[in-house]
Amino acid sequence: MQEEAIKKKLFSAVQPSGAVTIGNYIGAIRNFAQLQDAYDCIYAVADLHAITVRQEASALRRNTLELIALFIACGVDPEKCILFVQSHVPAHCELTWVLNTITYPGELSRMTQFKDKSARHAENVNMGLMDYPVLMASDILLYQAALVPVGADQKQHLELTRDLALRFNNRYGDTFTVPEPYILKESGAKIMSLADPSKKMSKSDENVNAFITMSDDRDTVIRKFKKAVTDSDAEVRFDIENKPGVSNLLTIYHAFTGKSIAEAEKEFAGKGYGDFKLAVGETVADALIPIQAEKARLLKDKDFLNGVMKRGAENAYRIARKTLSKVYRKVGFYSGE
Ligand code: TRP
Repeated sequence: MQEEAIKKKLFSAVQPSGAVTIGNYIGAIRNFAQLQDAYDCIYAVADLHAITVRQEASALRRNTLELIALFIACGVDPEKCILFVQSHVPAHCELTWVLNTITYPGELSRMTQFKDKSARHAENVNMGLMDYPVLMASDILLYQAALVPVGADQKQHLELTRDLALRFNNRYGDTFTVPEPYILKESGAKIMSLADPSKKMSKSDENVNAFITMSDDRDTVIRKFKKAVTDSDAEVRFDIENKPGVSNLLTIYHAFTGKSIAEAEKEFAGKGYGDFKLAVGETVADALIPIQAEKARLLKDKDFLNGVMKRGAENAYRIARKTLSKVYRKVGFYSGE
């Protein structure tokens, strides 16, 4: 009990907006299991965030369930962490409203991700897309999280979260823990597109060979790695500048085997790109198979998954409610007491 009381709280979330790539796995989900002993971890499936771009209702529902199953299949233990679906805890929306009143439109309209997404979804630039970082701040601040593991693309949002926490604390008195970014071990290892190693690997790439998803089968994984773009000098050597394709494959190999880049270079010294790509493909495929099997098993047990989500939402709400009551009191909402 006492030990639990001194653990720092850590919050993170993933959007249920379709396929999860091996980049998301290495950069985020895989680490979630590794953090659960050292910290009090709270993980959410961010469905409220997902609808800021258009989603098909049935797909969103399915993706939410699949993401919960994937979290568990990747080692997140619902007995050790709080695992829940964001929309199941209304406090996220409620705190967002209050934080909106201390957020300036300019802070949101100049966010890099808002500008990028507005350009990509020009037909649907909505207030939710703009307000997305305030909802994210609410996610984090509701749980008084001290640490938030974030990739480079979410750093600006975490900065805003810190600004809003400080602003609220200054205006209304100490209320929120000001969170710090948690720098992940593999955060330097950004996984790039297999088709164009100058771009980040993304599930929204129009070329399906550019990315590997967590549900790609063995043949698909191997085929996609065989097609991966390399270069013409046939040497397996890490050199981001001159050999971005080969370097990306080495990074993936390192991430899935734990072997250092130097060891990997030695292993493939004198071998052709064909052998190298096949080895990387087989390694990744072999790593995905047990995760896919466990996820499939979990998806057959919907009662179990529903139970996890229900319990997760209850536990999350217990913490969130305390913060929200404090906020409501500080801003002057009449409670009838
Ligand atoms: N915006 C994050 C992403 O797309 C997901 C997210 C939502 C999140 N709320 C969060 C991440 C809170 C960290 C903390 O990756």
